[in-house]
Amino acid sequence: MTMGYDFRFTHFEHDHLITAFTTSWSAPSNIALVKYWGKKEVQIPCNPSVSFTLRECRTQTTIQFDLQSSKKEEILFSIQYEGQPAPSFAPKITEFLKRIKPYVPFLTHYHLTIDTCNTFPHSSGIASSASSMAALAAGIVALEEKLNPSLTKEEQTNKCSFLARLGSGSAARSVEGPIILWGNHPESPNSSDLFGVKLAVYDNVFASYHDTVLLVDQGQKIVSSTVGHNLMHNHLYASTRFEQARENYSQLLKIFSKGDLVAFVDLVEQEALSLHAMMLTSSPSYLLMQPNTLRIIEEVRAFRKKSGLHLAFTLDAGANVHLLYPDAEAEKTRRFIENNLRQYCQDNALIHDRIGMGIKNT
Ligand code: DP6
Repeated sequence: MTMGYDFRFTHFEHDHLITAFTTSWSAPSNIALVKYWGKKEVQIPCNPSVSFTLRECRTQTTIQFDLQSSKKEEILFSIQYEGQPAPSFAPKITEFLKRIKPYVPFLTHYHLTIDTCNTFPHSSGIASSASSMAALAAGIVALEEKLNPSLTKEEQTNKCSFLARLGSGSAARSVEGPIILWGNHPESPNSSDLFGVKLAVYDNVFASYHDTVLLVDQGQKIVSSTVGHNLMHNHLYASTRFEQARENYSQLLKIFSKGDLVAFVDLVEQEALSLHAMMLTSSPSYLLMQPNTLRIIEEVRAFRKKSGLHLAFTLDAGANVHLLYPDAEAEKTRRFIENNLRQYCQDNALIHDRIGMGIKNT
């Protein structure tokens, strides 16, 4: 980040604002290896996290900005999903725009017409907040760049991640790829609590990774991530969990540079189960895994023992299972998934995805 650039945009006058601008962006989802779970105000993570950016699971968003005759108190918008009015999305976007207003004050002069859709089914149980907030932030930064062409590429990327984070923490990790760090850690001097950064050093094997998402439950989550994060306040194990994540982050940097797949599997699975252990031991406690989640975990572990391959599972805040494996093992692993695991998916549904590179102007 350029020294002194503090994400605020100050220099503009109404006369210099462009009257209309339309921009379209596609942003991917991501899957965390070291999990973000627990935050402080506003959207500051309690521990650093690391993720693979995905390639296929994406949100595509077009924003039309229309200059208003005068500045408004709030940022005005309308929202459509797949071409239809989507009032249920409005509260999250209202909150997002409220949070980002100090950093993009020029938006109070515009009305935003937002049109969005996902490449994955909205009801698949796949979290779309990361991809949708990253796509929205990308469109807003594109307007800022029009108004302030001196904004460098690096500033644009960082600002996009910074704004996306204010919409949803994990969205900070959806702007770039293939491997993103978010949250301060002494071993990564460029890391920040405010935006995601790329991991620079990793063995090539990781750039080949696949992520097959097993859709165990395609319904709405019973407890939202926001509520889950809040339950980390006063959680009996919170400080130990944050320490564990910091240590795992540090281990993961070593694993990435050595290409140690055995250690990778251990760490990723421990992280997933630690995340769910936090849910099981919060007050009130809750349980997002389902019987088929556990069956899949057992099968993956038995397959690994028998085959000597490096298939790992990880979990989001839900019942679905992400299966991570290197390209060199894809053929055998895919056969196992088809023969043994597809049966545990609701309507036999799964999504084959791969590690990817972040936002695209479309
Ligand atoms: C379990 O980013 O969805 O997926 O900041 O409240 O929007 P908010 O939470 P969100 O939390 C993601 C939690 C997770 C782990 C992760 O992606 O790191």
